[in-house]
Amino acid sequence: MNISSSNKISESVTWVGKWTFVLAAAGSAVGLGNIWSFPYKVGEEGGSAFVLIYLGCILLVGLPIMMAEIMIGRYAQHSPVSAMKKAALDSGKTGYWQAVGWTGLVSGVLILSFYSVLAGICINYIGIAAMPSTEITSVEQYAQVTGSPLRLFFWHSIFIGLNIAIIASGVIGGIERMVRLLMPMLFILMVVMLINAMINGDFKAGLNYLFAPDFSKVSSETFLSAMGQAFFSLSLGMGSIMCYGSYMRKSENIFKTSLTVAGLDTLIAILAGLAIFPMIFAYGMEPQQGPGLVFKSLLAIFIEMPLGNLIGPAFFMLLSIAALSSAISLLEPSVAYFEENKIVSRFAAAVILGLLIWFIGIGSVLSLNNWESTFFLGERNFMDSIVYLTFNFLMPLGGMLVAVFAGWFFKPKLAMEELSGAHLNIFKTWRFFIKFISPVLVASVFVYQLTS
Ligand code: PFF
Repeated sequence: MNISSSNKISESVTWVGKWTFVLAAAGSAVGLGNIWSFPYKVGEEGGSAFVLIYLGCILLVGLPIMMAEIMIGRYAQHSPVSAMKKAALDSGKTGYWQAVGWTGLVSGVLILSFYSVLAGICINYIGIAAMPSTEITSVEQYAQVTGSPLRLFFWHSIFIGLNIAIIASGVIGGIERMVRLLMPMLFILMVVMLINAMINGDFKAGLNYLFAPDFSKVSSETFLSAMGQAFFSLSLGMGSIMCYGSYMRKSENIFKTSLTVAGLDTLIAILAGLAIFPMIFAYGMEPQQGPGLVFKSLLAIFIEMPLGNLIGPAFFMLLSIAALSSAISLLEPSVAYFEENKIVSRFAAAVILGLLIWFIGIGSVLSLNNWESTFFLGERNFMDSIVYLTFNFLMPLGGMLVAVFAGWFFKPKLAMEELSGAHLNIFKTWRFFIKFISPVLVASVFVYQLTS
């Protein structure tokens, strides 16, 4: 079947604004991964050494795979499943490569199911930080929030509802309009948090913690964790970037835009660290708090510090906005698939898939509430099983296969045309990385995980 002539819907959609692709892709990339999990992982994995390894992963693995995803999406002008198929058929290869697109859709749906529950907690914290309870500590407050299934369920439902509304409104009327509104807000809030850390925090201690090299705590786990974090943070292996790439104009330079998106994503992660750690040190707290770092320690600080009931809500607003612009990119690939194949309308697809994700998310709500049922992966509960499955298998597998396809199976002539804006040396360097370096590094992490 000739996909390009079989349906026209996604072919006709391109971002309107010149900067929209960058805003949308950066919106996808910058999320809870940057502001919530990057800082706590830096804390757990020993500070600057983790940061350095993370930067290495972004450059050696993340950037080449991001370019490959955008290239395939823009070449095919279709949602990830059909894009992989078209790119493979046009290169004289089997259409079964579409399985890579399916892997992405499934992991996107699964990730959004728990991402939404976490994002719901962030929204709830906007109000909590504005009017913190004086009777309980921030640790008790966190236990109260996560220990109430009804409350989690409520905010999870609100968050999924927002996603459905945005995606149902279309690529231009929904996604483009929202990222043009949300991304500048996100940036302003980030700057506010940074200025706050400079005024109220121990900025020098924070800088030192993030940048003074200390390799004593590095283990093989550090590499695994940094690679997983880089993948997740750049939104790779899930079809999100490929899907957004399919709406990109042919005149844009894929190398420059990828570099900008990866740069912005890394910058925001580092800025989040610089906004959080100076406060943690100034208030005598420990950086190794794990996932509770922003909810427990930061809330305690906001309660104590001057203007905390303004700065606190601003911080959780920042987290919520970042989460929303990422979440819509997790829903879009599957909705685009439904729409493109005329299975149902975009509106119906957004509602049906949104409800499916909402339903799966209930499992994560219950998992946070001691629903100990060991699920399908060993001793893990439902939420942990989904996190484990997506982070350790689907995401790296998707990314690795995209790299292998782009490096070894996609016609070099087509790749050259898509990346033509780049200097020949850049193209050659990219090709070397996508053929040999990126897949081998991801594969070694993958094999290590399987065997350890
Ligand atoms: N990159 C997002 C974050 O850092 O929170 C999460 C994410 C969004 C992952 C979209 C994957 C994706 F496709």
